[in-house]
Amino acid sequence: MEARVVLNTSFNTGQIDPRIFSGFLEHLGRSIYEGVYDPESDLTDDDGIRTDVAEAMTGMDMPYVRYPGGNFVSNYDWRDGVGPNRQPFPDFSWKTTDPNTFGTDEFMKWCKLVGTEPMMAVNLGTLGPAEAAALVEYCNLNTDTRWAQARRDNGSPEPHAVKMWCLCNEMDGPWQAGHMPAEQYALKARNAARLMRGLDPSIELIAAGSSGRQMETYLEWDRTVLETCWDDIEFISAHRYSSNAANNTPEFLAEGVVIDSILDDYAGLIAYVKGVKQSDRDVHVSFDEWNVWYKERGGVAQDGKWDTSPALLEEVYNLEDALVCAQYMNSFIRRADVVKVACLAQLVNVIAAVLTRTDGMLKQSIYYPFALYSKHATGISLTPAVHGDTYDAGERSEVEFIDASASFDEASGELALFIVNRSVDQDSTVTIDLSDRTITGAGTVQILTGDHPKLANTWEQPENVVPSTGTSQLENGVLTIDVPKLGMAVVSGVTTE
Ligand code: AHR
Repeated sequence: MEARVVLNTSFNTGQIDPRIFSGFLEHLGRSIYEGVYDPESDLTDDDGIRTDVAEAMTGMDMPYVRYPGGNFVSNYDWRDGVGPNRQPFPDFSWKTTDPNTFGTDEFMKWCKLVGTEPMMAVNLGTLGPAEAAALVEYCNLNTDTRWAQARRDNGSPEPHAVKMWCLCNEMDGPWQAGHMPAEQYALKARNAARLMRGLDPSIELIAAGSSGRQMETYLEWDRTVLETCWDDIEFISAHRYSSNAANNTPEFLAEGVVIDSILDDYAGLIAYVKGVKQSDRDVHVSFDEWNVWYKERGGVAQDGKWDTSPALLEEVYNLEDALVCAQYMNSFIRRADVVKVACLAQLVNVIAAVLTRTDGMLKQSIYYPFALYSKHATGISLTPAVHGDTYDAGERSEVEFIDASASFDEASGELALFIVNRSVDQDSTVTIDLSDRTITGAGTVQILTGDHPKLANTWEQPENVVPSTGTSQLENGVLTIDVPKLGMAVVSGVTTE
């Protein structure tokens, strides 16, 4: 099979914000306790941090990590997780006992170790704007006031300088602690935003949008929130978890079409609210939960039975899941004008890029596309025109086999290409037609592929789905890349003039 991707540096959606390669950690199952923090393990530093996990996280090159939830945050009192007196508490959202031994200050230390920045979520479910503002005071102020002093007393003389803040989580969902109608949430979020920014004008704020396209209030919720909070927020959040419960690989591999259309929905809605308000400012999308999640979902997979670190949501990821994750990132890159922040949900043990045991760590298939994209997608996002064969993807109709995105670094003239071949049985040769420049160097090709869509890394065979070197040809300025069936290619360092 052959395909042609036409690019021109004048046709672009602007700078790719590196924050689209952020992650998410929640107090859930074995994510924090055992995964990130395990004073009992031999694999930890003096603070009880798992150093093997921290190293793997560093390899993902994430500018930000969202914390502490997720559903968890809507019933979490951050004040119980700082200072010397820590009491266990029953977490309503996942029915676990949280020992509270890992909290805000421990997370800040972890971020430093990993080389990332904190993106803190505040509880507007069971708490309110005052407690959210107190957390901003605790983290960001150096005043002679109660919570700033408490931080200093707890061992952090300098402010943590947290820049990004989420105004709670999925408040449209009936499962959420403190779930409320959109109008009520919007007012509460606006009050919290004003108090928080009143204390630190440099922060950036994310209002909670719809928890997914499946919600009856999808977009209506978001419209209300945007109309009420427009002048007080920088972002509205979007969430999606993809499913192959129907076990239909070709249709599942067309998932990028749905992601594109969600981004179109948000682009349209944001443009509408901006137009109605005749506003000069912009609000962007923070796609701060995305992943594949359907195998360990619902019922016992979500019931912690009041254990401290039960194995919850421990999804095992395979090749087809990794190819869907790559498509999320292709969509985010293509819509660089709309999406400025996105967080892979999640990172450790819970619907995660890595799994842990007391004696080791396993990188899942989805780890690799993320690490490759976050490293190589820099500069502006070129809008690809793909010409190639299509296939019938059921409800997703006729879909291109090739899903592509491209980044171009204007300073160095280097191009990077990110290509997924959705075909389950046909390899593809993809020709790159960069119409306004000449390709002078083919760069390096890394591919991720395998014989079977369900192929996964296991503790016994941890390298079933790992990147390998791919092939390309550069002849007379024409670059052709071999993208295997059920595969993806990341081509970096393509030089142009
Ligand atoms: O990431 C798991 C859960 O999914 C989060 O807690 C919640 O926000 C979403 O529904």
